[in-house]
Amino acid sequence: MNIIRFEDLVAQGQAAGKRVFIRADLNVPLDDAGNITEDTRVRASVPAIELALKANAAVMVTSHLGRPTEGEFKPEDSLAPVAKRLGELLGREVKLVSNWVDGVDVAPGQVVLLENCRLNKGEKKNNEELSKKLAALCDIFVHDAFGTAHRAEATTYGIAQFARVASAGPLLAAEIDAINKALEAPKRPLIAIVAGSKVSTKLTILESLSKNVDGLIVGGGIANTFMLAAGLKIGKSLAEPDLVGAAKAVIDAMKARGAEVPIPEDVVVAKTFAADAPATVKAATEVADDDMILDIGPKTAAKLAAQLKAAGTVVWNGPVGVFEFAAFEQGTKAIAQAIAESSAFSIAGGGDTLAAIAKYGIEKDVGYISTGGGAFLEVLEGKTLPAFEILTKRAAA
Ligand code: 3PG
Repeated sequence: MNIIRFEDLVAQGQAAGKRVFIRADLNVPLDDAGNITEDTRVRASVPAIELALKANAAVMVTSHLGRPTEGEFKPEDSLAPVAKRLGELLGREVKLVSNWVDGVDVAPGQVVLLENCRLNKGEKKNNEELSKKLAALCDIFVHDAFGTAHRAEATTYGIAQFARVASAGPLLAAEIDAINKALEAPKRPLIAIVAGSKVSTKLTILESLSKNVDGLIVGGGIANTFMLAAGLKIGKSLAEPDLVGAAKAVIDAMKARGAEVPIPEDVVVAKTFAADAPATVKAATEVADDDMILDIGPKTAAKLAAQLKAAGTVVWNGPVGVFEFAAFEQGTKAIAQAIAESSAFSIAGGGDTLAAIAKYGIEKDVGYISTGGGAFLEVLEGKTLPAFEILTKRAAA
């Protein structure tokens, strides 16, 4: 993907003394008292800001927080807690600026945080007049918000159309590079793990990946629907019987390419969905009418682990069992450990997947951990994200 990289602009001295507008994704969870409960996105946004400051640019940073009503400021929509955390991480005060669309006072070597961009009227609909005003605030636009790269809004798309220079920040560029490495030019075999409760929410991902991957490991409720498609009984497990046809089509598409959707040969079942429910390992052919499948069994886990260890590339989205409960975590743990031990390049994304990675402490052994939720899923669906589209267009112009 041909894009202008902000790192290159800095290396070429083109950012020195310039007005730089960074669109970050600082959309972090807050508790009722307004404290940030998980700050990965703030930390991930620091390198772009430091890069701009080192270049002696006048730095403006903005992000959305939640989904506020445009034009109606409420204290809970404020980026104030983010300004504080950013200040701690940068080791300097970060001033929060409100009502900034018509002009921002910032000098070279300074950084300001511009209040929640979704408070501006026209942001969500990518209003052209607003986008032109935003573009006029800067010499260089830096898109560094992978988490919002699937949205075409004024601060993520319109500004990139009209800014003098539109570039990708280090975080966005790293995401683009990792995605290309995993999906455009992967080292084979390419194995994808797509797990979660429902086939319906990930059907387009399964269909898209079935055209590209060498192995498609399904897990959770999705695997149960695939077990039904393979003619197995799943008792009272979570599944979508009306999507059995769609699951069969994915299995057939994979078969036609000489690839495989491994169906579990053993499973861990319980009679109720509870942390203390007694867990029983069973062959996949032995599931009783009152059983709930809550994890893959040890034979299946070992087989999948071997497949992952022999892979060239692994894409991981979703835990394969109820890993929050100790009795049903072994499958997800085995998958995580196999990815960690594999020499394959791995890319992982999605809230539950990140929680599993943290639980098993394999952060350093995953090739790339995406900061995107919805954006990562849209990439897996094979969609071209608006951010990638406009930055490529601007690089070609
Ligand atoms: C996210 O949290 O997935 C991103 O920040 C995008 O937020 P949105 O779904 O409100 O656009």
